[in-house]
Amino acid sequence: MKNIRNFCIIAHIDHGKSTLADRLLEYTKTITEREQQAQVLDNMELEREKGITIKSHAIQMDYTAQNGERYVLNLIDTPGHVDFSYEVSRAIASCEGALLIVDATQGIQAQTISNLYLALGNDLEIIPVLNKIDMDAAMVDEVKDQIVDLIGCDRDEIIAASGKTGQGVEDILEAIVARCPAPKGDEDAPLQALIFDSVFNSFRGVIAYFRVMNGTIRKGERVKFFNSGKEYDADEVGVLKLKMVQRNEVRAGDVGYIISGIKSSADVQVGDTITSVANPCTTGIEGFEEVKPMVFAGVYPVENDEYEELRASLEKLRLNDASLTFEPESSLALGFGFRCGFLGLLHMEIIQERLYREFDMDVITTVPNVSYNVYTSKGDMISIHNPSGLPEPTLVDRIEEPYIHAQIITKTDYLGNVIKLCMEKRGTLKSQNFLTTDRVEVNFEMPLAEIVFDFYDKLKSISRGYASFDYHQIGYKISALAKLDILLNSEPVDALSALIYKDHAYDFGRKMCEKLKELIPRQQFDIAIQAAIGAKIIARETVKAVRKDVTAKCYGGDITRKRKLLEKQKKGKKRMRQVGNVEVPQSAFLAVLKMD
Ligand code: GTP
Repeated sequence: MKNIRNFCIIAHIDHGKSTLADRLLEYTKTITEREQQAQVLDNMELEREKGITIKSHAIQMDYTAQNGERYVLNLIDTPGHVDFSYEVSRAIASCEGALLIVDATQGIQAQTISNLYLALGNDLEIIPVLNKIDMDAAMVDEVKDQIVDLIGCDRDEIIAASGKTGQGVEDILEAIVARCPAPKGDEDAPLQALIFDSVFNSFRGVIAYFRVMNGTIRKGERVKFFNSGKEYDADEVGVLKLKMVQRNEVRAGDVGYIISGIKSSADVQVGDTITSVANPCTTGIEGFEEVKPMVFAGVYPVENDEYEELRASLEKLRLNDASLTFEPESSLALGFGFRCGFLGLLHMEIIQERLYREFDMDVITTVPNVSYNVYTSKGDMISIHNPSGLPEPTLVDRIEEPYIHAQIITKTDYLGNVIKLCMEKRGTLKSQNFLTTDRVEVNFEMPLAEIVFDFYDKLKSISRGYASFDYHQIGYKISALAKLDILLNSEPVDALSALIYKDHAYDFGRKMCEKLKELIPRQQFDIAIQAAIGAKIIARETVKAVRKDVTAKCYGGDITRKRKLLEKQKKGKKRMRQVGNVEVPQSAFLAVLKMD
């Protein structure tokens, strides 16, 4: 155990985590350059495209240090996005040390700090690395100052490196061996292994990745997952090199995988403890949480008759993504579909993209919303995932919504803009802290609902891209919310209902009506677009009638051209939904995302 080192890499997005990880794997000959296809640690196609490490993995390297001793280095990869922060926290809990990578051209960013706090909270040894020093734009001294200020290390503890040229790679490996503590743990104690990730394999079922804290896990033994209480046979255990390598046992301190005939990811919860049935531990490893979806949206097939196919596709996706939830729902406007729960907006985008790519499913996704705790006048609490499910206003005593702690780092020039934006989004300024004379960290408490749409884009544009943002949840708070309905020729469009902060409702209603007026094409009669709270109409627009004759342009009587036009129009119709007598284009269901 004294020659094992478990470490992770924490970095803000694009600061060079994957590139540097590849260099470590090359240097230790875990992979040869030829084997290396782009970046080994990001292996889902989608991840590579997005440049985001979506699912964490682990890889083991053998390294002979300058002192002549051989070491086993386990690199545990962490996902780089707030949607997956619970997985990050479990990966961090599996390590003794962390490389803190900071891009020398960018300096410290919001995710650098939030991940650093997680690492410090788990008592990890921090090894600071200044990356991309090959670049002309590198601000070596300035960023070193930032790092010293942030973690209170000595300047010469910071390793200057480049994932591009390979500079500093050996220094990093030596620092891991010298500075990162060896794991502690008792090989003879009852088994306690922390699950920090799992993947689904269509042939082998679920493969769970773990770090053994105490005891030894053996091939063939009967194991139990502490929190779920489920028991399995450990059909195969092993360590993670470039491929999985089978072993008869994996001992305290080490990182490995287990395959035990588990058919669905939902049965394996990140954060759970694996123990043995014969000699079980008495407590699970601290920090277990059930991950709950935070963002909800209706997902409907574009073609109504593809409902069953959509269900089958979602079921398959859930096999390898336990954080996706879904339940049937129906909408007057959109027909039959599902209300899906996601960890966050990126997760939602990923699912939508996977439905399209892997299952060839074209879906309409409604505007996302958070989940609300609604207290009825009878004293019951119901959890509402869909604004149209809100009880009558007279039956509601109060509504609570989820709040976040938001952390933003920006240039001082944009501080005013950032504060103004957060205030508009109902934020309360908690603290501000100057990192250098021209960079500042601000902390806000604000409702999650306010960042669910358009917050990132707005933040980017008001700061010309010089703002980084991270957040975590802090629980529910009571809010003055109202349900806003949209009516088309007096028919409510359930898919467009929103729960909205009362003081924002008039403005929101007016903008929605204006936007819908742009998006709904003229038809052969006037269309009244109204926004209402309860029975009260708060805004109105009208789409004037027109007699549309698409073939009028084809005066030459060219029949094939005429037919083409008609076909085109028919296709266009498919993308329309009927609400009462009004045809509504799909884009209108996302109108709210397009408002300024
Ligand atoms: P995420 O997985 O998205 O969090 O990004 P990452 O932190 O893994 O960053 P990645 O390794 O993908 O690098 C981001 C970009 O910076 C890529 O275009 C790399 O080629 C480039 N890059 C990484 N390290 C260096 C470096 O040391 N020097 C230079 N010049 N470019 C680098």
